Amino acid sequence: MSELIPVLSKEQIRTLVEKVAKQISVDYKGKELILIGVLKGAYIFCADIAREITLDRLKVDFLRAASYGGGTTSTEEIKLTKDIDIDITGAHVLVVEDIVDTGLTLRFLIDHLKSYNPASIKICTMIDKKERRKVDLQADYACHVVQEGFLIGYGLDYDEKYRNLPGIYEMKL
Ligand code: XMP
Ligand code: MG
Repeated sequence: MSELIPVLSKEQIRTLVEKVAKQISVDYKGKELILIGVLKGAYIFCADIAREITLDRLKVDFLRAASYGGGTTSTEEIKLTKDIDIDITGAHVLVVEDIVDTGLTLRFLIDHLKSYNPASIKICTMIDKKERRKVDLQADYACHVVQEGFLIGYGLDYDEKYRNLPGIYEMKL
């Protein structure tokens, strides 16, 4: 059995999500905003942050990227396995991610979304994991920053398990 070290409790997550949602509501005041959640990991974060954003004109969509290899390291072969359905041309887009690690997944997704010519595109992540960043990519909004470690819970999985945990834990393999 692997050891699970608490990183953020359910209550801490709620406080962080509320704070970031408040900032987003201020920054996009009077504008239409489209949240694009990255499946599957961001499904819970996206649902929570959407409910805390107070904009009148908020839309939500999802896409899905798969990186091949599995396990705990992000591989470099990334494919789009589900595209967005909403037309984002000329719209303000905020990509909602569970965790940014090397940054390769988001770099790929942002390049793809840019091909639709949105008015703006920014990044909101639950966890910004700094140590292994391979591309020059900054999250515009991050709830929590860690240096390293494999995290699970609150949407994050290990072999598709633990997504349902309300808190976030570091998994010591
Ligand atoms: P990159 O390296 O492309 O990685 O920024 C982004 C994707 O890699 C997965 N990932 C993790 N998944 N715990 C997870 O459950 C982690 O600590 C972790 N680090 C990276 C995740 O799918 C993320 O979207
Ligand atoms: Mg992910």
